[in-house]
Amino acid sequence: MLQEAILITGAGQRIGLFLAKQFLEQGEYPVVFTYRTRHAAVSELESLGALGFQVDFTQPETVSTFLNELKEKVGSLRALIHNASIWANDAMVDENPDLYTAMFQLHVEVPYRLNIALRPLLEASKSPMKDIICLSDSSAGQAYGDYSAYLASKAALQSLSRSFAQKYAPVIKVNDIAPGLIIFNEHDSEAYKQQRLQRSLLGIEPGAQVIWQAVQYLLNSAYTTGVSLPVDGGRKIL
Ligand SMILES: NC(=O)c1ccc[n+]([C@@H]2O[C@H](COP(=O)([O-])OP(=O)(O)OC[C@H]3O[C@@H](n4cnc5c(N)ncnc54)[C@H](OP(=O)(O)O)[C@@H]3O)[C@@H](O)[C@H]2O)c1
Repeated sequence: MLQEAILITGAGQRIGLFLAKQFLEQGEYPVVFTYRTRHAAVSELESLGALGFQVDFTQPETVSTFLNELKEKVGSLRALIHNASIWANDAMVDENPDLYTAMFQLHVEVPYRLNIALRPLLEASKSPMKDIICLSDSSAGQAYGDYSAYLASKAALQSLSRSFAQKYAPVIKVNDIAPGLIIFNEHDSEAYKQQRLQRSLLGIEPGAQVIWQAVQYLLNSAYTTGVSLPVDGGRKIL
């Protein structure tokens, strides 16, 4: 049985992958992760010693099957990181209404169910600090007519994070990281990139390192719970 593990959802690419690799390099905790698509990076994580579970959280019964399998292999958790996400604008949702349901499943229902089901594993950790960390979005409190469904689901995740901070205190800290632009998507146009860069005071595409730094801060802080930490280059005060 793995003890004191870090569980990251959706770690097959980009930010989740980066976090998983950093934890593996650090070597302090075993890494357990979920992935939906078996990217080449999944095998890489496994070869580095991480334990992966292939899970599509929108499929019926998946959450309970995953939890049963996880509990056979993991005895305690140092931290649970809700990273898995779908990014869809309203035009995409209007074309495929299942995306609306999928975003609320992934950003709200799954974190809720995992928080409840994995509480005993977090409480079983011998570490003086145990953490749940959500990844939302720094725009979640703002209005963007093109992204109403996505932002509503991420705002719900922030709300969930605050309520669980209250519910699980003082044993488990629960915090949110609210990223702004971190990594562009492969198909973003130059015009879109320029527009996004101009929205932040610092004007850079920082990469996943800044999320790792935020995760480290939250894991190591004995006095921070119930917050949403913006990691957004100062966009809100523009
Ligand atoms: N990147 C940014 O600039 C940025 C900005 C704001 C907020 N964030 C937040 O930061 C987190 C990580 O961002 P990212 O850009 O690395 O995200 P990403 O590239 O979209 O990766 C998200 C992961 O979630 C997985 N996933 C999607 N649908 C799933 C499902 N139905 N069941 C299980 N897993 C599923 C994906 O699996 P597949 O590999 O199969 O697609 C993917 O590996 C997300 O919560 C995101 O909302 C990121």
